[in-house]
Amino acid sequence: MTPRHAQYLAEIGIPVYALRSPPAASHAPAGTFEAVAARAPVAPPVAARGRDIGASMDLEALAREVAQCTRCALHRSRTQTVFGVGARDARLMVVGEAPGAEEDRQGEPFVGPAGQLLNAMLAAIGLARAEVYIANVLKCRPPQNRDPQPEEAAACMPYLERQVAMVEPAAMLAVGRIAAQYLLRSEVSIGRLRGQVYRYGERATPLVVTYHPAYLLRSPIAKAKTWDDLCVVKELLGRP
Ligand code: URA
Repeated sequence: MTPRHAQYLAEIGIPVYALRSPPAASHAPAGTFEAVAARAPVAPPVAARGRDIGASMDLEALAREVAQCTRCALHRSRTQTVFGVGARDARLMVVGEAPGAEEDRQGEPFVGPAGQLLNAMLAAIGLARAEVYIANVLKCRPPQNRDPQPEEAAACMPYLERQVAMVEPAAMLAVGRIAAQYLLRSEVSIGRLRGQVYRYGERATPLVVTYHPAYLLRSPIAKAKTWDDLCVVKELLGRP
């Protein structure tokens, strides 16, 4: 670990003793990381309902379509849609749950306190926020930040699926239970979803699950596990 990484880790409150064990060990108990990835469960293919949505659009056109969206009731309470942000050719795509109050106000994902921690988490593996693509399962804020309803997620997921198809990231990071469960179509707890590399969609993009930064703000003890997950992401991206 470089001194710069040590500084980032200190800033996000990750104890350095977490690095004593090899980063991938908890994910790759038997063999190399590639071997683990090859055995990885495959998320079901993109649902047919999502195939046609925005199929011929670029990201900007899709964003304009999302801005007009009335596919679920959340359009009535939103200030604006929160489409996604980042590099069109990002190698990492981060997927969260839904906009909060600040995101609804600014129109950009992860700009509140959880966003600050997400930025620090990315920096800890040498990634600037602008280098990655960040989006959410829902493009509109649920009232009082309640969990997304299944029908809201069903209406909105096709947009995320198109974003993934257009950005074509080399790896994905699902932050939090909601993102992980909807991307993997699973009802398994986040504690059990963590710790392996999944394959998402038709391109079988490697997908890692970790805790949501808002949860980490409440439960800093979980940051050590998140550091393990981030190390897996870093390895998937082939970063030194
Ligand atoms: N939490 C999320 O999951 N997404 C955001 O954009 C902000 C907070």
